Amino acid sequence: MWRRSAERRALLWRRSVALRQVIVDMLAISILVIVVSAYIWKRWRSHSDKLPPGPFNIPLLGSWEFIKLYFTNGSLIEMYQRLGKRYGPVVFLRIAMDSPVVCIRGYEALKAASTDTRLAGMYGTFFYRFLAGFKNYGISLADGHNWRKGKKFLNRGLAQLGLSKESLEALVNEECSKALDEVLVRDDNVVNIEKALGLATTNIFFRGAYSRTYDHQDANYWEMKEAIATAFQTVAKLQTVLDFLPWLKPFNATYRKMSKALDCLYSYADLIINEHKATIKENNPRDLVDSYLLAAANAGEDDEVSTENLRVMIRDTLAGGLDTPSTAIVWAILLVAAHPQVQAKLHAELDSVIGRERAPSLDDEKSCPYTRAVIDETFRYFNLTPFNRHFATQGDTTFLGYHIPANSIILMDLHSMQHSRETWGDPENFRPERFLTEDGPRLREHVRPFGFSARVCPAEAYARKVVFLFVAQMFQRASLRLPEGVKKVAAETTYSITVRFEKPEVVIQAR
Ligand code: HEM
Repeated sequence: MWRRSAERRALLWRRSVALRQVIVDMLAISILVIVVSAYIWKRWRSHSDKLPPGPFNIPLLGSWEFIKLYFTNGSLIEMYQRLGKRYGPVVFLRIAMDSPVVCIRGYEALKAASTDTRLAGMYGTFFYRFLAGFKNYGISLADGHNWRKGKKFLNRGLAQLGLSKESLEALVNEECSKALDEVLVRDDNVVNIEKALGLATTNIFFRGAYSRTYDHQDANYWEMKEAIATAFQTVAKLQTVLDFLPWLKPFNATYRKMSKALDCLYSYADLIINEHKATIKENNPRDLVDSYLLAAANAGEDDEVSTENLRVMIRDTLAGGLDTPSTAIVWAILLVAAHPQVQAKLHAELDSVIGRERAPSLDDEKSCPYTRAVIDETFRYFNLTPFNRHFATQGDTTFLGYHIPANSIILMDLHSMQHSRETWGDPENFRPERFLTEDGPRLREHVRPFGFSARVCPAEAYARKVVFLFVAQMFQRASLRLPEGVKKVAAETTYSITVRFEKPEVVIQAR
């Protein structure tokens, strides 16, 4: 009797376990069906919304094109060249987790996009928010009122105080001639031109903006350069695993590297701010930082908020300005060194307009059309930022009749415009003369190294002046050629926001 009831209880228990299992299975299947249906519905709807054309995307994994690029370390420029030929000026793809990417190509489409602020929002992904410190401060990663205010300040500040026309000429001449004096005693040696001149261009900006200088032995300088390179390379990847699984951050090497890099940039900003606060004089602003602190105090801004904003602004100017002018100058030097006939014309113009006795001035620029054409052709040939800085749409929008979903990554393919065969005929050749024809002014419209959007670089005027003065002084005083056996200059293959050279080496001789 007792045995029979135990068997019955066991049987009932087995049945209830089996029933529970069926219920759990059915629940799991229902959830799966709902998720898959929602996913198919979402995709079907987004397709019906007139997305731009593009290749097939594997659900959740994204386009095969991106997967291939990731595993082969291929070139984003070449990938979009290929896709552009097939799909036209607006190409649509998805990357992991179905995130939409829209690439805008060619002058007409880029021009239309450049005034469309709905396409120029900041990324909302974890990594971007982390870079922005999860706050809306500074310029580069800020939006709305704070961005406009920061940009207005920087636009004005870069033309005043330590960076006004006269002080800039004096600064460039001093830093450039010091660097050249050192390098020109090493006649006929192979020189790493970036190492030899990079610090000079950094110091021009640092002296004018922050009243500080660096020397080659300063570990901080190299640490900051490394920090900025890491930030640009990480952001260039479009996505990181942390954008989907942010709780993995303690185990993520890139996150740890970036945290260290940001700490390095912020501690430098703190140093600058504290020095300035301790020595500022109300009626005598010395530089960009003093003028910011005085303006904030006069406007009665909260000290903590305005100091935090200034920290981020200094971080933005470091990230934007530490390397870019020197990269542009090194590209110009390498390209001219690789083209002796261009160098001969450059020398002839500089000799006849400036001579060899006095340093170049900004007033010389209008009398040096060939030097200007060399600089424009450098910016065209190796666009420093081939896809501009990456943006994202903050809501659903339309562009050229296409539906662009919210949170699409927007890539402005500036390379496609600066290397269009229809516009340039022979884009693969370095040929400054093309800007000296009647068509020159129209062609210059097609070269946008400082961006082609509402968020165009605030330092364009400043950087152009520095590049002109530097290149003019360099070729006024020196002749350059590529080292023995080197036939052409090439870009580094690691994709980053900015394109850097593979080997910045030249042989330099005093003239
Ligand atoms: C040859 C030198 C330079 C080049 C080629 C360059 C290029 C660029 C480009 C392509 C952008 C993105 C524009 C866009 O999104 O449409 C940008 C933005 C920016 N650049 Fe520069 N840049 C240079 C020098 C500098 C310098 C010296 C500074 C330092 C003040 C600077 C600070 C910035 C900032 C703060 C932004 C963000 C602007 C915004 O978000 O509105 N840049 N730059």
